[in-house]
Amino acid sequence: MNKVSTLYIIGAMTLLTGLSAMAQDGEAVFKQNCSACHKLGTRLVGPDLNGVIGKRSEDWVRKFIAGSQTMVKAGDKDAVAISDEFNKMVMPDFALTGADLTALIGFLASTGQQTTTAIATTADPQAAVAPIVYTDEDVVRGRAYFQGGLSGGGPACVSCHNATGEGVIPGGLLAKDLTNVFARMGHAGIAGILGAPPFPAMSSAYSGTAALTDEEVHSLAAFFEHTDKAMAGQVAVAGGQTTMLIWGSTGLVVILALIGITWKGRLRRSVRHEIDSRQLRSI
Ligand code: HEC
Ligand code: HEC
Repeated sequence: MNKVSTLYIIGAMTLLTGLSAMAQDGEAVFKQNCSACHKLGTRLVGPDLNGVIGKRSEDWVRKFIAGSQTMVKAGDKDAVAISDEFNKMVMPDFALTGADLTALIGFLASTGQQTTTAIATTADPQAAVAPIVYTDEDVVRGRAYFQGGLSGGGPACVSCHNATGEGVIPGGLLAKDLTNVFARMGHAGIAGILGAPPFPAMSSAYSGTAALTDEEVHSLAAFFEHTDKAMAGQVAVAGGQTTMLIWGSTGLVVILALIGITWKGRLRRSVRHEIDSRQLRSI
């Protein structure tokens, strides 16, 4: 074998391993960022993404990943339709970098070409049909976990989220109110998000040794199902944004009224008025 052909073989091998590494990276990027809400072959929190490139253009998918709500607001027909179909649930924006995005798009583009049966088996249909039972003890445990004492030492959910229910202290306003999250996502959605949080604030809080256990996830889902049922039809106010809004706007009205009283009289004759009348006299 001469030098040149050896070089060719080395070159080809590098290229091949490079390509398969890229396909794997795409899957890894998908697992890390998307799998909490999307599966291939079945719908989870968001739509089934099997063969999504083909159904939509690659360019459309790139734009949707970077800013789905921007597209919905701009009136993109397909974006509005899918947003309506999923009860206007918001998919977070992803600032994925060039290489990761290319790998992810490559992975998504490859999915439509696989047979649906092959993918359906990996999606584990058993898990979807197995009935999930929540006991009263689960709800009690979930309520406690929501307010602290997680086994991995992660922060209490209540430091960022509010959920209205009996025996729950008012929670933080840093993130969404979770009182009705069960109605929006169901068990699969909540378990997906808690298993691999797609939000930076949460993934850093619950990664590694601080990861939530299956029992904690199950109990939290039970707690959310409970608050959703208990608070159905009621406006969540305790510690929520509504309270802030009411106090905020009342305060503003009071301040404006005070300013009005203080400045009354002083403003009756403006400096401008004096100047104008002086000038008028001089004409
Ligand atoms: C927190 C949950 C969540 C995460 C995480 C998430 N999505 Fe979504 N996605 C949704 C929901 C809900 C919809 C449908 C409604 C909408 O958002 O407008 C959606 C819709 C989509 C669509 C449109 C599908 C169609 O049929 O038109 C694409 C494409 C998509 N997501 C790709 C991704 C990719 C890629 C990632 C990872 C980088 C990702 N999503 C992460 C929730 C999520
Ligand atoms: C450090 C702050 C922080 C903590 C602690 C936290 N979260 Fe979150 N969570 C967020 C942020 C930020 C989001 C992104 C969406 C938003 O702004 O609400 C989010 C989103 C969610 C969502 C998706 C809501 C939706 O409707 O899209 C769920 C469910 C959730 N968190 C549950 C929990 C649970 C359960 C815990 C406790 C184990 C927890 N979070 C702890 C910050 C936090």
